Amino acid sequence: MIPVGKPFVGDEEIAAVAEVIRSGMLAQGAVVTAFEDEFAAYCGVKEAVGTNSGTAALHAALLALGIKAGDEVIVPSFTFIATATAVSMCGATPVMVDVDRETYTISPDEIAEHITSRTKAVIGVHLFGQPFDVAPVRKICDDNDLFLVEDCAQAHGAMYKGEKVGGFGAAGCFSFYPTKNMTTGEGGMVTTDDPELAARVRRVINHGQSDKYLHTELGFNLRMSNLNAAIGRVQLAKLDGFNAKRQENAAYYNENLKCAGLTTPYCRDDSVHVYHQYVVEVGDDFAMGREAFMAFLREKNIGSAVHYPMPVHMQPLYRDSGNAVCPVSDVLSSRVLSLPVHPGVTAENCAYICDTINEVN
Ligand SMILES: Cc1ncc(COP(=O)(O)O)c(C=O)c1O
Repeated sequence: MIPVGKPFVGDEEIAAVAEVIRSGMLAQGAVVTAFEDEFAAYCGVKEAVGTNSGTAALHAALLALGIKAGDEVIVPSFTFIATATAVSMCGATPVMVDVDRETYTISPDEIAEHITSRTKAVIGVHLFGQPFDVAPVRKICDDNDLFLVEDCAQAHGAMYKGEKVGGFGAAGCFSFYPTKNMTTGEGGMVTTDDPELAARVRRVINHGQSDKYLHTELGFNLRMSNLNAAIGRVQLAKLDGFNAKRQENAAYYNENLKCAGLTTPYCRDDSVHVYHQYVVEVGDDFAMGREAFMAFLREKNIGSAVHYPMPVHMQPLYRDSGNAVCPVSDVLSSRVLSLPVHPGVTAENCAYICDTINEVN
């Protein structure tokens, strides 16, 4: 089976972890600091703070920005659940809005329509590795005195108008889950150009500690460990190579998938897409329904997955408490299908996948 997602860790990562184990310094320490510095430099931002997941990065960034009960934070409905639950974890209300039909990313018009006196921030998601349209979203945030938070969980190394994601708003939040463009096992990172915000994030993730055993605010234990950071440092050095292979595979699909009823991803021409997922749309005029198509692919040893089968505003957690109307997200959830695009997918795999799918017609 060609898996739809797979981590790429090898001997160098094993050696780096072994070195940390031998050092005896397993928890947060110098290796985390080195990884933070390297990640900040890679993203072109002043500061980066390691966390133990992408969800923790979002949670800590929002808390550090002062998001609290009574506040509203606008999020896209077509995303992974953590974009919204991080807001709920702060006691605030995620306000789900619809996404753009072509890029699947947050719609600036929808944001503008949903701002109220309680709105404090907007989280834009660089979904599947493609940046959302940052310029109009940032303008809306600036005009309305709202924080912009980038959810970069799926977009390490992606670029918008020549700049890497992670530095466009108050904070950028990355995930290093095993199937992401780079991994630390579990882990996350908050990026920011604001040293004061970085200092607040550091307190939030470390028991609200402002000095040794002095706790000035409610904090959590959301810290990254040296073990995870050791993997991350090796992976960061490989990230551009990983992304280049994803882009090569995606370019092959874009060129060679020719099947009535199957739409290949829209790609903004002012951005660099890093294809965390390669997502096609299975239309009504395709030869079979999405579930039958997935079963067909499975029979042919091709893995696939649906990201995401239910938009956030329809999740049992949220659907009774809100009245969000997101028709684009609804349609996408019923049509999207992710094909294998990760660096382990070979040129032969790509040719086999295209030939197999093109034969469906
Ligand atoms: C868009 C998005 N946001 C947030 C997260 C949360 O990251 P993590 O799984 O590391 O907590 C993910 C990870 O799956 C994600 O895809």
